[in-house]
Amino acid sequence: MRALVTGAAGFIGSTLVDRLLRDGHDVVGIDNLSTGLMTNLDSAFDYYSHGGCGRNRFTFVRNDIQAPELADIVMGSNPDVIFHLAAQVNLRASVTDPLFDARSNVLGTVNLCEACREAGVRRVVYAASGGSRYGAPTHLPVSESVPLGPLSPYAVAKVAGELYLRAYAEMYGISPICLALANVYGPRQNPLGEAGVITVFASAMLTGRGTRIFGDGTSSRDYVYVDDVVDAFVRAGAAHDGVTDTFNIGTGLQTTVGEVHRLVSDAVGSCASPAFNATHPGELHAIALDSSKAEAVLGWKPTVGVADGVQKTIEWLRATLVPGSEAQAPPKALIGA
Ligand SMILES: NC(=O)c1ccc[n+]([C@@H]2O[C@H](COP(=O)([O-])OP(=O)(O)OC[C@H]3O[C@@H](n4cnc5c(N)ncnc54)[C@H](O)[C@@H]3O)[C@@H](O)[C@H]2O)c1
Repeated sequence: MRALVTGAAGFIGSTLVDRLLRDGHDVVGIDNLSTGLMTNLDSAFDYYSHGGCGRNRFTFVRNDIQAPELADIVMGSNPDVIFHLAAQVNLRASVTDPLFDARSNVLGTVNLCEACREAGVRRVVYAASGGSRYGAPTHLPVSESVPLGPLSPYAVAKVAGELYLRAYAEMYGISPICLALANVYGPRQNPLGEAGVITVFASAMLTGRGTRIFGDGTSSRDYVYVDDVVDAFVRAGAAHDGVTDTFNIGTGLQTTVGEVHRLVSDAVGSCASPAFNATHPGELHAIALDSSKAEAVLGWKPTVGVADGVQKTIEWLRATLVPGSEAQAPPKALIGA
């Protein structure tokens, strides 16, 4: 299979690139490197584009998804499936600069839809936001049948991407699958971000910095491990052409931010208490996703529990962070929401 991954240098995108290459597929990655890092693609380059596997199976193109040349890149790559993960992912930044967010996440996705139409690409798998598409649902875990209720510019823009894909499906026969992701965590998540709270807490504790909780610690999220999420993308990419739908990808379980702090403290061996700050506008109190449709249709279910996932993430952080130094950390904060 030939796959094209937008947002290939990002946290989830680069993990997906590695998995696709390991599975034997040819991959073209696109990223503008606004938050993504070339180092996230080290393993993809090391083996798969330098002849280690016999021939070059990985190509990286530094490009913005809003750029007019996207159509030529898609046409030239001739992909069987496009995994669309490139996005401005900082919810708080979307509140302060909604125009920038919309340009990247709405216009960028429309540009990709047009490129798919011109190149005749059918299968598109889109990283939707399960944490924000339902607003503040009263019943948890929430299923896909609950009406849309985005409450922030980021949430509106991510939903708009889904709706554009649906419209292109109606108009031009594109076959989209939208994966509405819960809070994804794991190796390669930016440890200096404002969300991705597991790596944020863990990196702070490992480098001797203090931790902050926004709110009173009772707000809860559905934390899903990155390898499980990547598995959902792979299954969606391989799904029968007739499957076009939105699927929640989460564990269905709520973990409070206070519990996350305790889990990370225990794993790191830290006894420092967090500081507490006011919550930000546009952020939810509680969310958890019912993924039974993904299990029934895609055969997907999560395999990594949050305690194990926290351990794996901390092992990665221990191997990459220099204590007391931020020199190796990515330059810009990011949020997965
Ligand atoms: N991390 C989560 O918890 C989570 C939850 C729900 C949905 N998502 C979605 O998953 C996708 C990946 O998120 P992530 O957590 O890996 O974030 P990330 O910031 O690590 O990845 C996004 C990538 O897209 C690139 N990018 C941004 N704007 C671009 C543009 N205009 N053109 C080309 N490249 C661009 C960035 O450089 C980055 O490499 C996003 O679409 C995000 O909305 C993430």
